[in-house]
Amino acid sequence: MDRQPKDCQLTSKSHLSQDFDARRLENAAWRLWRKKQQQDKDTDTASSGSKEEDEEYVKPAARPNLQALREAIGDRLDFTGVRFPLAETSCEYDDLPTFPIRPNFANFKNKLQPASECVVFDGCPEDPYHPSNTPIYQTSTFVQPSSSEFGAYDYTRSGNPTRTALEKHVAMLEQAAAAFAFASGMAALHTVMRLLKAGDELIVNEDIYGGMHRLITQDCIHSGIKVTFVDTTKLETVSKAISPNTKLIHTESPSNPRMRISDLRALANLAHRHGILLCVDSTMMPPVICKPLTLGVDIVVHSATKFFSGHADCTGGLVCVRDPEVAHRVAFLQNAEGTALAPFECFLFLRGIKTMFLRVERAQENAQHVANFLMKQRPYIKNVFYPGKGGCCDAQSLAIHCSQSRGPGAVLSFTTGCVDFSRRLLDACRIFKTTVSFGSVNSLGEMPCTMSHASIPAEKRTLPADLVRLSIGIEDVHDLIADLAHGIKVAMEGRAPDENDGYDSKFEDLPVVPSFTPDMRPNDGSTRVPPSIALTDAADSEFNYQGFDRSAAAGPEELCSADQSGRKQCRHLLQHLGQRHTMLAVGVLTSGLIAFLAARGRTCK
Ligand SMILES: Cc1ncc(COP(=O)(O)O)c(C=O)c1O
Repeated sequence: MDRQPKDCQLTSKSHLSQDFDARRLENAAWRLWRKKQQQDKDTDTASSGSKEEDEEYVKPAARPNLQALREAIGDRLDFTGVRFPLAETSCEYDDLPTFPIRPNFANFKNKLQPASECVVFDGCPEDPYHPSNTPIYQTSTFVQPSSSEFGAYDYTRSGNPTRTALEKHVAMLEQAAAAFAFASGMAALHTVMRLLKAGDELIVNEDIYGGMHRLITQDCIHSGIKVTFVDTTKLETVSKAISPNTKLIHTESPSNPRMRISDLRALANLAHRHGILLCVDSTMMPPVICKPLTLGVDIVVHSATKFFSGHADCTGGLVCVRDPEVAHRVAFLQNAEGTALAPFECFLFLRGIKTMFLRVERAQENAQHVANFLMKQRPYIKNVFYPGKGGCCDAQSLAIHCSQSRGPGAVLSFTTGCVDFSRRLLDACRIFKTTVSFGSVNSLGEMPCTMSHASIPAEKRTLPADLVRLSIGIEDVHDLIADLAHGIKVAMEGRAPDENDGYDSKFEDLPVVPSFTPDMRPNDGSTRVPPSIALTDAADSEFNYQGFDRSAAAGPEELCSADQSGRKQCRHLLQHLGQRHTMLAVGVLTSGLIAFLAARGRTCK
């Protein structure tokens, strides 16, 4: 299986793959060391004179094995040749064939820039055909080398090469010791909660995703776990809530949906001083914006359904951990509880990751423009919760956010001061689809109190009822702002949105018919009639609407009638075309008939 001569294996490749290979080797050595721990301990103890099992002890003990491994298998590991003798198998993670060799990416400094990191990744170097893209290993079982040995994989619930590829790429992006892919974000969060046992205490941010609130208040508490909600943006409040039984602090930063910022470095320091793990649901901040493990966080969870997929076409969850021991437990739970992600979804997430940088970058840019626009729509828009320039974050929170991330993200929320107004606004939007979730290429809007956070009982909810959450997509931002302007206008006028106002809800509403009035033509080459964008003149003073000639823009009423006149003209054109086609058909048939009769005449003669 080893296709390269042994002495050029490390030198013929880039530095990057040297790192990879070194890591594989390191992990294989670690694993081997664990298996032979007992024997090695005796030998090494004799030479070092210490029986302590601390890091200092482990490393020298592993060295002879590393050397042995190098001699036995060369510098490049052949994963297809990995064997786990059944007789030595216990139910410990290390002995389970869930993953051939799991590279440890903690502190791994990729030489590539974030955009490249998302694309440059070899998902299946062990595949004998070495495909350039990771295939979907759509199989539930793997044939074993013999009845007394396990191969690298045996059953897809335990491990599957497509999942291996996804988990490795995610671990690399998050600089994790290991990453694990689950069937949904909730399955991932649930697995983290399963690290706790009866009697343990959990501190949770009071502003969190509704589904997580439901999980801990209506499920985890039945396992004997005590939950305390605090405002994790205030360190002293967290500090006061810590008890000797506190084992885990769970937060989101920015929080969902109020975009409140917690100082992750400070929280990690506080947690570690008390021997507590810090878990961050970083769904809002994919690794192209923030890598919480590098700030000291112990566990990072993502609803991969959002930015990792990016296309709202699959659900999934990720757990990334810094400590190999926690990784072992998570791997055990993933296998024992059967919550792992299926191969096809793994493939979709692997594909989603490749465009994640581009998608997020564009969505972030759009979000800043949308936030600027909304901030200027007073008195209709009251507060804009957005961890970027001009949003509701105070200077200190903004500074903290900037120090721990590469941008404000693509989600924001706002209040209008009136629940009905918010509803009318959202319902009138045509591009922003009313949908829970976020992180997709298309823009979405929702009302958290009745949608994403409805599972939090009203009396426990701290969210304003008029709050609207927007997830900004990668569309042209002119269209997004025009859509919101339209929504605000409809809400302002107090009228119900037009029926079938959605661009894709009814075929005849699709703006595919070009308008024939020259002065209505947008100058960006698109066939869409340019919408009216600004409600107020000040609305876009900072933002240069490229490709849109505002002097030629029509107001909403004119636009409506212009659209109708365009349709009328189109009907005329179609009628005209219809007449021409009929005439053409009659012409062809007549000439055919004449030719036929002439030929018949000739035959008769
Ligand atoms: C912040 C956050 N975490 C977790 C989840 C749950 O993820 P999933 O829907 O993939 O189970 C969501 C879902 O919206 C979320 O917004």
